[in-house]
Amino acid sequence: MVIALDGPAASGKGTLARLISDHYGFAHLDTGTLYRGVAWVVLNENGDPSDAEIAAGAAKAFEIEKIENADIRTKEVGAAASVVAANSGVRAALLEFQRRFAVTPPRGAPGAVLDGRDIGTVVCPDATVKFFVTASPQIRAHRRWLELVESRPDLKESDIYQDLLERDARDAAREDAPMQAAADAELLDTTHLSIDAAFAAARRVIDGVFRHCG
Ligand code: DC
Repeated sequence: MVIALDGPAASGKGTLARLISDHYGFAHLDTGTLYRGVAWVVLNENGDPSDAEIAAGAAKAFEIEKIENADIRTKEVGAAASVVAANSGVRAALLEFQRRFAVTPPRGAPGAVLDGRDIGTVVCPDATVKFFVTASPQIRAHRRWLELVESRPDLKESDIYQDLLERDARDAAREDAPMQAAADAELLDTTHLSIDAAFAAARRVIDGVFRHCG
């Protein structure tokens, strides 16, 4: 059983993925962590994330343990992650790890939940259930600001909004595995939904598919 959640930043897909994995006892992989991890390694070594060779080299040598204590959730790492994610060498290097996680989830879990931008289209095109989670850019910027304001009170919501628009455009326009809804994905717009309501809607879809699968 593989559940794929794709969508733009701060759409709620990460929180939903966690709730779904807890509820069904599935393993969860936030694939953005891998791109953020590669970006963090490049920045930490004073490299340029847009240098194709440096970024692809960092992705090939990447191990998740390297970023265990790294602060990969910053705005700067997020922006650099979106740049390295447009690099085909980086994407190819990270693909195998993601597919292995989906096929053989850790600790013998009976299924896997992966969230990202290309899970339903490229990483797991045969996923059991696919969601494309969206929300208006204004509400996404507000959610991200709420998450960050305590540690970065200087951050302006309008700057986060601009940042999100730039990342969305880069993630959707790249040639290799652009962010897009798979043709068979269930669209979930969380603009006016609480997380509980979004989770209930996702469960209805998943339970329906599971019943159908027997
Ligand atoms: O979901 P996130 O904000 O942590 O993702 C960081 C960046 O990684 C995002 O801008 C696009 C990229 N990404 C991707 O290209 N493909 C994925 N499956 C996951 C993330």
